Amino acid sequence: MTSSSSITIYRQDYTVPPFLVDHIDLTFDLGPSVTQVKATTRLRHNPESESHDIVLYGEALELVKIVMNGKTLAKSDYATDNGELRIANVPDDVTLVVDTLIHPDQNTSLMGLYLSNGNFFTQCEAEGFRKITWYPDRPDVMATYTVTIRADKEKYPVLLSNGNLVETGDLPNNRHYAVWDDPFRKPSYLFALVAGNLVCREETFKLADGRDVLLQVWVEKNNLDKTAHAMESLKHSIRWDESRFGLELDLDRFMIVAVSDFNMGAMENKGLNIFNTRYILANPRVATDTDYANIESVVGHEYFHNWTGDRVTCRDWFQLSLKEGLTVFRDQEFSADLTGSDSGRAVKRIEDVRTLRQLQFPEDAGPMAHPVRPDAYQEINNFYTVTVYEKGAEVVRMYQTLFGRDGFRKGMDLYFSRHDGNAVTCNDFLAAMADANGRDLSQFERWYSQAGTPRVRLESHYDEKERTLTVSLSQFCPPTPGQTEKQPFLIPFAIGLLDSKGNDMPLRLKGGKDSGTSCILELSDASQTFTFVDVAEKPVISALRNFSAPVILEYEQSDDELLHLLSHDSDHFNRWEAGQRLAARRLVSLTKAVQDGQPLTLDTAFADAFRTVLSDTSLDAALRELALTLPSEMMVAERLDEIDPHAIHQARQFMRRTLAEKLEKEWRDAWDRNRTEGTYRPVPSDAGKRALKNLALSYLLALDNPVYCQMAIEQYNRADNMTDRLAALTSLVHSGCMNRHPEAKALLDDFYREFENEALVIDKWFSLQATSPHAGIETITTLMEHPAFTLKNPNRARSLIFGFCHNNMAQFHAADGSGYEFWSKNLIELDRINPQVAARLARCMDQWKRYIPSLRKPAEQALRHVSEQPLSRDTREIIEKTLS
Ligand code: ARG
Ligand code: ZN
Repeated sequence: MTSSSSITIYRQDYTVPPFLVDHIDLTFDLGPSVTQVKATTRLRHNPESESHDIVLYGEALELVKIVMNGKTLAKSDYATDNGELRIANVPDDVTLVVDTLIHPDQNTSLMGLYLSNGNFFTQCEAEGFRKITWYPDRPDVMATYTVTIRADKEKYPVLLSNGNLVETGDLPNNRHYAVWDDPFRKPSYLFALVAGNLVCREETFKLADGRDVLLQVWVEKNNLDKTAHAMESLKHSIRWDESRFGLELDLDRFMIVAVSDFNMGAMENKGLNIFNTRYILANPRVATDTDYANIESVVGHEYFHNWTGDRVTCRDWFQLSLKEGLTVFRDQEFSADLTGSDSGRAVKRIEDVRTLRQLQFPEDAGPMAHPVRPDAYQEINNFYTVTVYEKGAEVVRMYQTLFGRDGFRKGMDLYFSRHDGNAVTCNDFLAAMADANGRDLSQFERWYSQAGTPRVRLESHYDEKERTLTVSLSQFCPPTPGQTEKQPFLIPFAIGLLDSKGNDMPLRLKGGKDSGTSCILELSDASQTFTFVDVAEKPVISALRNFSAPVILEYEQSDDELLHLLSHDSDHFNRWEAGQRLAARRLVSLTKAVQDGQPLTLDTAFADAFRTVLSDTSLDAALRELALTLPSEMMVAERLDEIDPHAIHQARQFMRRTLAEKLEKEWRDAWDRNRTEGTYRPVPSDAGKRALKNLALSYLLALDNPVYCQMAIEQYNRADNMTDRLAALTSLVHSGCMNRHPEAKALLDDFYREFENEALVIDKWFSLQATSPHAGIETITTLMEHPAFTLKNPNRARSLIFGFCHNNMAQFHAADGSGYEFWSKNLIELDRINPQVAARLARCMDQWKRYIPSLRKPAEQALRHVSEQPLSRDTREIIEKTLS
C-alpha cells in the first residue's frame, strides 16, 4: 500500500499490447478468507507489436502456479517487478493457466473481490482485476469470458457474473456452482462477480425489435420494497436509448445489484451493473425527491454505458472521458427528456451547470487541474474527476450545439459503425463527429488537450443611427500546472437580444440571413467582432444562452439590465443566471463589508426582484426555487481572490435573514400554497412544489421566531415522505431553533430511532448534523464516537467527514486550525483502510493557497503533517500536487 517513489504514466508512452486474449475461463472457489482463482487464458501475439513478451499485472495476489502450454513455469521463467509479471520471448499462440489465492475478508480497499455484509462483490474499474488474478489488465485487451463460481449453497445461494447463465448444479459438501458465459468481448475492467444471499425484483420486458429480455434488480432481502423506482428507471432508460439513439439492449438478461459498501456511484459491468445502494434503494419513507432523481439518472448512466463504454470502450485510461463525458451527457439528456417539458429541461440544465461551476471550475483553477483527456497520472483512480465527467459532458454537448440534434445523431451513428467492438480514443469520437458533419474540427480538439476554464469577454456597442449592434468577443485561458500558454478554443456562443418590453428581437448578422431569435456565434480567434443589423432599439443582451460553452463570461451588465433579463428572458437558464449574478454581486460586496467592519445593507430593488419571482405563479415552482436559492458559499469563494470563509458565511447569512424579513409574508404564502395533494409521487411538478415550500421554510427559520420553529416541528411530525421530513429536520438543526426548543432537539433522536435500520437514512442523519453551521469540532468528534459511525463504509465516512470538511465552510475553517487537524487525522487513518476514498478526502484542501493568511499557515501545517506519513499512491499524488 505504501510507496516511497511514485511512477508517473504518460499518455504519449502508449504502446499496443504485445499479446491479445481471445478467451478466458475463470473458476472461483469462493471462501471469505481464502478464495481460489484459476484463470485459463488463450493468448495470441499481436502482429502490431514488436515485443514477444507477455506482460501480466497483479496486486496483493498469492501466486500458486503458472502453467504455459502444459508446462509449469519455474520462478526463473518469468520476472516480477512492481506489480508486473513478464514472460519473455513467448511463441505466437499460448494457453496460460494461472492459479492464485486471494483474501476477500482482508480487502478493505473495495477494489477487486471483497465482502460487504457477508456477500461477495467485485469492482474492477479501473485496475481492480489485477487484484483477482495475474492478467493483461488494460482496457485495450478484450476477450470473451466463461466464469464458473463455486460456493457454499446456504450462505451464497445466488451466484452471478456477466452474460448468460448456462449451467447450475450441486457439489459435495453443501456447495453448488453456476457457469456464466459472456459472448461479448470485453476488457477486464468490465468483469463482475456477485455471490451471496440476495433477492430480486424481476420483470420480462419487450424491446423495440420484439425480443423479450429479463430485467432484475438484486438487493438484500430487507430492501426488496425499495426496488420499484430503480426498475422503472431501467425500463425508461432502455426505451430512451432506443428512441433517441436507435441503440438496443444486446443481451437476453440485464442485472442490477445494489451493495452498501462501494467506493463510487455505480459500475457498468457488462450485463451485471453494480450500484452503491444509495443509487438504487427508494421508497417515499426513506428517499427524498433528490434521491429519486439521482437514481433515475445513475441507472440511466450505467445502462447507457452498455453502448458508450462496453460495446465501444477506451484504448487506455487517458481516454476515460470518451466513455464518461459522453455517458454523462447522455444521462443528462435522458433526465431532461423525461421531465417532459421545456421548463423541466431548464431545471435540469441549471442543476447541471451549478454542479459544474461549484465543483469543476475550482478543480480547473487548482493544483489538480488537468485536461478532459489527461496527459499524465500516478494513480488513475484520482482522475475520475468532475473534469473528466462533467466538463467532458459539456464538451460532448458542444458538438450537439454546433451540429444540432440530427447532426449529433449522425456523428454517433458513424462512431458506432466505425468502432463497435473496439477500444478507441477521444480523437476517434471527434473524427466521427467531424466526418459525419463535413467539418474540420482540429481546433475543437483543444477542449480535450488544454486544461483551465476559458474566460470570454463581451463588449457591445449599439449605433442608433445605423441600427447596428456590434458584439466583440475575446477569449483567454489562464495557465494551469504544466500548461502556461493556451491556444484559442472553438467556442459556440449562444446569444439573443431583448427589446425594452422584454420580447426577443429578430436577429440578422451582417451579410447573413435571418437567424431567428437566438443564434450561435462561433468564436475561434482570440478576439472577434460580430455585427447585428436592423436592430430596432438598443437591446439588452442575453449572452451564453443555456450555457452554450463551459466558460466564464465576463460581461459587465447593469443591475437594470439583469433585472430586465430576470423578469423577461425567454431563455429560462439566463433568467436564473441573471438572478444569480445580482445576488453574487451583492454577496461579494457584503463579504468585503464584513471584512472591513462596515455595516451590512441590502438594497430594496434586489429584495423586490426576489419578491416578484417568488410571487410569479406563472413560473414553475422548481424554477422559482432555483432562482431564489442564493449562490453557495463555495460559489462566492470562486469570485474572490482570497477566501475568507467566515466573512463569506456571515455575508450570506445576512442576505438570507434580510430576504426572510423583507419577504416574510410571501415566504409564508409559498409554504402554505405549495403543499402537494394526495399520495407522494416523485414527479417533477410535485418535487418542485416541495422544493419551493421547503426553501420557504428554511428562510422563515432564519427569523428566529418560535412560531416558525413550531411550524417546522409540525411539518416533521405530519410528513408522509422523507423529502418533507428531512427538510424540516435540517432547517431546525441548521437554524437557532435547535438550542431554544427542547422539542426540536428530541426530533433528532426520534429520527435516529425511527430509521436505525436504514443505513442510507442514518447517513443523512450524520450529514445533516455535520453540515450545520452550529456544529463545531466537538459535535463532530462526538458523532465520530457514535456506535453507528465507521470509517470502513464509504457512504458513512463521507456523510460525516466529507459533510464537515467539504460542506461546512464556516466550521471546517475554524481559526484555531482544529478543522484541518481533524481532516489530517482522519485522512491518515482512512488511507490505511481505503486509499481511493481517502484520496477524495485529500482534495478538501485544494484551495488552501487562496485562503486568507491566518488560515494558510495551519492548512499548510496539516498538509505537511500528512505528507510526512507513509501514504498510498492515491493520497500521495494528491497531497504532493496540493503542496507543490
Ligand atoms: N465507470 C463508473 C461510472 O459509471 C465509475 C467507476 C469508477 N471506479 C473507480 N474505481 N474509479 O462512472
Ligand atoms: Zn460512467
